[in-house]
Amino acid sequence: MAQNVQENEQVMSTEDLLQAQIELYHHCLAFIKSMALRAATDLRIPDAIHCNGGAATLTDLAAHVGLHPTKLSHLRRLMRVLTLSGIFTVHDDDGEATYTLTRVSRLLLSDGVERTHGLSQIVRVFVNPVAVASQFSLHEWFTVEQAAAVSLFEVAHGCTRWEMIANDSKDGSMFNAGMVEDSSVAMDIILRKSSNVFRGINSLVDVGGGYGAVAAAVVRAFPDIKCTVLDLPHIVAKAPSNNNIQFVGSDLFEFIPAADVVLLKCILHCWQHDDCVKIMRRCKEAISARDAGGKEMQLLFDVFMMYTDGIEREEHEWKKIFLEAGFSDYKIIPVLGVRSIIEVYP
Ligand SMILES: C[S@@+](CC[C@H](N)C(=O)[O-])C[C@H]1O[C@@H](n2cnc3c(N)ncnc32)[C@H](O)[C@@H]1O
Repeated sequence: MAQNVQENEQVMSTEDLLQAQIELYHHCLAFIKSMALRAATDLRIPDAIHCNGGAATLTDLAAHVGLHPTKLSHLRRLMRVLTLSGIFTVHDDDGEATYTLTRVSRLLLSDGVERTHGLSQIVRVFVNPVAVASQFSLHEWFTVEQAAAVSLFEVAHGCTRWEMIANDSKDGSMFNAGMVEDSSVAMDIILRKSSNVFRGINSLVDVGGGYGAVAAAVVRAFPDIKCTVLDLPHIVAKAPSNNNIQFVGSDLFEFIPAADVVLLKCILHCWQHDDCVKIMRRCKEAISARDAGGKEMQLLFDVFMMYTDGIEREEHEWKKIFLEAGFSDYKIIPVLGVRSIIEVYP
């Protein structure tokens, strides 16, 4: 077997060998694109282009970002990688390169610069030494008994992601600011595409809701929904105050306040299977607690309806009736409290 492998390697053509080496180096250096993106974000190159009327030469950029005079040619090289990645576009104006924004770099404009959305903080969440360093522990995590029992982050840093945030306020601010940006963009898309999911809801709890960006977007669009944000006490303590949102500092494994709906954004993907089940159990309790009043009313109504020999039915009982009557499908649309509309399709 070993001999076969050696023979195969020996018969690799010169072209293949060269190509394989290029491909390998390409993979090795893929991180340069991320690092260049992070540098462009920190140097605020998108702002520089925007403030220069939407197009900037290298000299314009240098002036705006406060470039050290010895680094002009290095900035050109950085911009070459960034245009290759589609972060900027380059035009040749009479032999001089002029850079413009793309839809990606428009997302990197700073607060205060006219923009619809900003995602520069989330770039810092993804591309930062703490996050990247974790990936260097993959080998240990895959192979060492003790390491395999904890998260990759713990192997690299000796604490969980949430413990580091609790103990390092700079790291915590960076992380939460990034999540606020992500939530603003996500909620804009969700409210444009699927705002129906929030109709008919009286109360909602955003579990692990951080600084409350999701809840803020929900109450802006649906002011009648009573929104609660649950997160760890030191996180909610730093959340910007909002009279329309109630913040609760608690451990999501211990307690989730009652609500019609529990919202989990970017939560379950942080946890292993068993922890997800524990979280979902807490969510079920929270919804059931809110439901208890409605459920009781439903039961009373059910007995009341006996006077006409009627019944308050569960979904599977309605389904049986509709299908038996020859309808092909149905949809239950909650309206308010215990009331729903049932659409039945022929
Ligand atoms: C990936 S962030 C998601 C934040 C927010 N849902 C969003 O999408 O912007 C995970 C959140 O879970 C919170 N968290 C982690 N462990 C928690 C716990 N045991 N109890 C409550 N919140 C927790 C963190 O503080 C953080 O805000």
